[in-house]
Amino acid sequence: MFVARVEADRVRSLTGVVFEPDPGLTVIIGPNGAGKTNLVEAIFFGLTSRSFRTSDRRDLIPFGSAYARCRVTVSGTGVDHMFMASASRSEGSRYTMDGAKIEQAEAAGHRPKVTVFSPDRLELIKGPPAGRRAHIDSFVAARWPGRAGLRSAFGRILAQRNALISRIAAGQADRSGLATWDSQFAEAAEALAGSREKAVAELGERWAAAADELGLEGPKSLTYRPGAATTSEEILKGLEEKLENDLRLGRSSWGPHHDEIRVELDGRQLRRFGSQGQQRLGLLALLFAERSALLETGGGAPLMLLDDVMSELDAHRRERLVERLLEGGQAVITAAEGELIPERGAILRVAIADLLEDSREVAG
Ligand SMILES: Nc1ncnc2c1ncn2[C@@H]1O[C@H](COP(=O)(O)OP(=O)(O)OP(=O)(O)O)[C@@H](O)[C@H]1O
Ligand SMILES: [Mg+2]
Repeated sequence: MFVARVEADRVRSLTGVVFEPDPGLTVIIGPNGAGKTNLVEAIFFGLTSRSFRTSDRRDLIPFGSAYARCRVTVSGTGVDHMFMASASRSEGSRYTMDGAKIEQAEAAGHRPKVTVFSPDRLELIKGPPAGRRAHIDSFVAARWPGRAGLRSAFGRILAQRNALISRIAAGQADRSGLATWDSQFAEAAEALAGSREKAVAELGERWAAAADELGLEGPKSLTYRPGAATTSEEILKGLEEKLENDLRLGRSSWGPHHDEIRVELDGRQLRRFGSQGQQRLGLLALLFAERSALLETGGGAPLMLLDDVMSELDAHRRERLVERLLEGGQAVITAAEGELIPERGAILRVAIADLLEDSREVAG
């Protein structure tokens, strides 16, 4: 499955922009502020009805306009499907396939999965563990759809237990209610931790191989560091042992909400000691590792949207990245300067200025 056509009717600075990416690699080139990220966001929005930049879809509404809308045609399975996402201040959001309203779960079966790199996402490598946990959980959901609900199930139980802990600490509730929550907590924690462990085991070697291939040199590892025990019996025991401490803190101090997914180069954490370029390669390698895991286990190749991916990479590593992207699957990348992209016949190069020009001609 691949994206054959994108019609960004109105998305941020784009109006009436039509874009037909290559089924392989397309590069969108244009100066700062030209609308490259907006176009990548439009593709993501049209396909998924979400944004990777904001949780408020209304941000996509062009200034002074009433709505945002993008249509994306997906080809490659014999029948084309047209997805449409819109957001409006007065009418909320709409998401359709071939003109009929569609839910996320159903849509996911008819469109490619999407992997996004954007400079903001470097937080995933540089930032605190919560971002890595969330990311691994979304890989779990993509890899084993039956486990998609584990993260939110645990989150709900954790919130309930925390609420009860603070009521007990404040003398507004007694301890008798805890037992039920603790056993639910332990079950949900075991399921979540087990999935993370499995996911990281599947990604570890692939991550190291992809990182090597992209030119991240040195011994490296991606490992799961549980923040608590991983079996429900041990977790339950731990909850009992830590109860006095939890009551003092007013929250649950033990559980998978303290898990870490550790990314190391030369035995040191990439988040603390890696250079900008190394962190960038570490993140790209993670996205490639996920892609190869999904591919090898029968999922289709995800569409890769890589915004501003080349900056901070030297010529040699830019070359390696392009080689990797040309190995298969669809990718759309952006760059401020065409010279940053190695010359290869198979790459479709699109100047954003040309797309904007065409849209003005149609409008005029
Ligand atoms: N809701 C909106 N309506 C209209 N214009 C918007 C909206 N949101 C952002 N913009 C404008 O879009 C432009 C930025 O576009 P974009 O982020 O796609 O640029 P870019 O080509 O990715 O630039 P860079 O190379 O700096 O990353 C800015 O001028 C910004 O003001
Ligand atoms: Mg940009």
